Order: sequence, then structure tokens, then C-alpha cells
Amino acid sequence: MKSSTQDIIDCTHQCVMNTYARLPVVLEKGKGAYVWDVDGKRYLDFFSGLAVNNLGHQHPRVNYALARQIQKLTHVSNLFYTAPQAHLAQLLVRSSFADKVFFCNSGAEANEGAVKLARLYSKKNFGDNRYEIITMINSFHGRTLGMISASGQERLRKGFEPVMPGFVYAPFGDIEGIKKAMTARTCAIMLEPIQGEGGVRVASDDFFKELRDLCHENKLLLIFDEVQTGMGRTGRLFAYENYDISPDIMTLAKGLASGVPIGAVCARDFVAEAFEPGHHAATFGGNALATSAGIATLETIKEEKLLENCLEMSRYFFEKLNSLKKQYPLIQEVRGKGLLIALDCDRPVKPILNMCLAKGLLLNVVQEKVLRILPPLIVKKKHIDEAIDIMNRVFQEVD
Ligand SMILES: Cc1ncc(COP(=O)(O)O)c(C=O)c1O
Repeated sequence: MKSSTQDIIDCTHQCVMNTYARLPVVLEKGKGAYVWDVDGKRYLDFFSGLAVNNLGHQHPRVNYALARQIQKLTHVSNLFYTAPQAHLAQLLVRSSFADKVFFCNSGAEANEGAVKLARLYSKKNFGDNRYEIITMINSFHGRTLGMISASGQERLRKGFEPVMPGFVYAPFGDIEGIKKAMTARTCAIMLEPIQGEGGVRVASDDFFKELRDLCHENKLLLIFDEVQTGMGRTGRLFAYENYDISPDIMTLAKGLASGVPIGAVCARDFVAEAFEPGHHAATFGGNALATSAGIATLETIKEEKLLENCLEMSRYFFEKLNSLKKQYPLIQEVRGKGLLIALDCDRPVKPILNMCLAKGLLLNVVQEKVLRILPPLIVKKKHIDEAIDIMNRVFQEVD
């Protein structure tokens, strides 16, 4: 039975809870940097499943790994060992500061794991009264009850109170503000290296160095939420590498397995050893299917030199976007790192997003006036030219 766009939209509204403000498009297939809707219309995908499809759609290597794995084993319990989980953990350990990995299924779940690990480590080493975590104003760490409590945005918590205690909010990029938030109860500082959902906000190199020193001096754990910035998005495999420092705990999800649900808590040994059997678990966490996709993703990023491509395409894109900014005063600022890019505008950008959509370009809106642009890391100049041409035509119409 072939359903029309309207049938599928109606069925979704009837049967799926109303938690998303969806765009009126029913997507059916994807290839590389493009997706197609059920009517055969093609879109250039600079949304990338919200920073998940870093290798574009249907990457042959990921598809091959999934097809091969699914014929052997999809899932067993974490009460057994599997080779793909061991191999992905080893790849992550070899590619980062971390010594150990815990696998789960999503970004919020990875952050929950990081918070549990930080609290347990602190209780074991410094006693019961050191449990508070400083997070950043405007941050986003996910939608579980714990993570709406951790996120520094009041609007996420509204209606769900009482939220989880133990989080204190400080201004992002402001080391003095963070010092003011510290008390004898503080055990860790948790932040996104670039605030994604908060509007693609970047902090200075100095801020990160001072933050690392502050954590060392006060024996606080530094937790980086790299759910969005990880897996090459900023031109480094992990965004912390841009600042010549490393955290004690890092969380990953989104791009880690190219769309197969996965999350990871990565930590140094001295922290990770706080966890013992019985402390934390996830039924699906790091199952054979997800981790085989993760291995293929990491190998592809390295072998296809996608970090180099990300940096080169980023320079090209920023140049083009800055020329658009000169032409159209409604663009206030072009900012970001690598292929995590924002156009901060002087007005709500939903109409601009819809006009781009009609012309075949998928973008995203954050914080009302910010267009977030997330091309896949496989992007080529011709895709960027196509996106710039569409944006140019849209800005001409709205200016
Ligand atoms: C920085 C950051 N952390 C956590 C999350 C939550 O991830 P998930 O939706 O997989 O739970 C997101 C999602 O956008 C994110 O951007």
C-alpha cells in the first residue's frame, strides 16, 4: 500500500505523541549528502539528522558492516562479551584521552552515566558532601529528568518540577563566573565545548585552559559533553583537541554509529575505576549491531580523511557565508567551528528555514533567530555552492 504525504502526516498526528514541531516533509531515502521525500523531491541535507549522519546517508562501509553483523548476531546481553564492543572501545581509547568506555544508547543517557560516575568517584574519594556539578547557562544535555536538571535552560524544566537537585549554573566562557559558582560541595564541571542547541556558542582558547587548571587545582572532574561536537564535527575527532587540553570524562552519541542508536561515556582510568559491577548498566548498550556501525564510522573518518575534508570545507563555507553576511544585513554573525555553523540573524528564522526547505535545502533553527547548519563531513564544494545559491535566493526574497 502506498501512502501519500498527507496520509503519513495524519497517521503520525493520530498515533505518535505530539512532542516535535515537525516540518511537513516525509523522507523516504537518502544517499550521500541528499535525501528524497515520498514524492521524489530531492533535498540537500545540511541538517544531517541533527549531527548524526556525519558520513552522509547510506555510507557503503557502514551498510556493509551492518549487513555482515546482522547475519551473525544483533544483540546479546552485556552479561556476555562481543568482539565489536571490545573493538569499538579499543578504537575510542586509542583515539582519545580516555582509558575506558561505557556504552549506552543516546546522548542524554551518556550524560546520565557521566554524572553518576562523577558523583560516585567523588563520594569514594572525598566523602558524601561533594556531589554538586556546575553546568553552563544556556547548555543542553538532553531530555531525561536528570538532564533537564543539568541543562542551564529554565524552559526545559518548566512543568516537570520537582527536578533533580545537585546542579548549579554558571556563565559559559566566563572563568570568574564559574569560580563564583564553586562551593565545598562541587565535584565536577560539565559543559559542551561548543554550545550547540544553545545557539552554536564558542568560547575562547584561554577559557578552556583556565578551566582545565581550575579543575586540577581544586580536584574537580572536567566533563565534556561531546554528543554533538564529537566524531569529527569540528574538524578534530573530538572538539577538546581544538583547545590543547583534555577532560576527565567525555560523552559521545549522535555521530558515533552513523544513525544506529548508541552513546558512550569515555573516562580516564582513575575516574572509571569508581564503577564496579552493579553500579550502572544498559540492556542495549553497545550491542553488536550498534558497535559494528561505530567501528565502520571511526575507520571511515580516518581512512577517507574526513577531518581534513571537514576543515577544508569549513574554510570554504565560512568564506561564502561571510560574503552573504556582507550582502545581507539581516545576518548578524557567522560563527561556529568545523562544520557546526550558525547564522545569527536579526529576526526569527523559521520563515527562512521554510523557504530553504521549499527550494530543496534542509537546515535547522535554534534559539529562534539562529540558523544552524550541519553539513555531513563528506560534503564537497559543489554541495556548498548549491546551498549558498539557495540561501542567496532566499535572502534576496526576505531582505
Ligand atoms: C550536546 C548535547 N548533549 C546531549 C544531547 C542529547 O542527546 P540525545 O537526544 O541522544 O539524548 C544533545 C542532543 O541534541 C546534545 O546536543
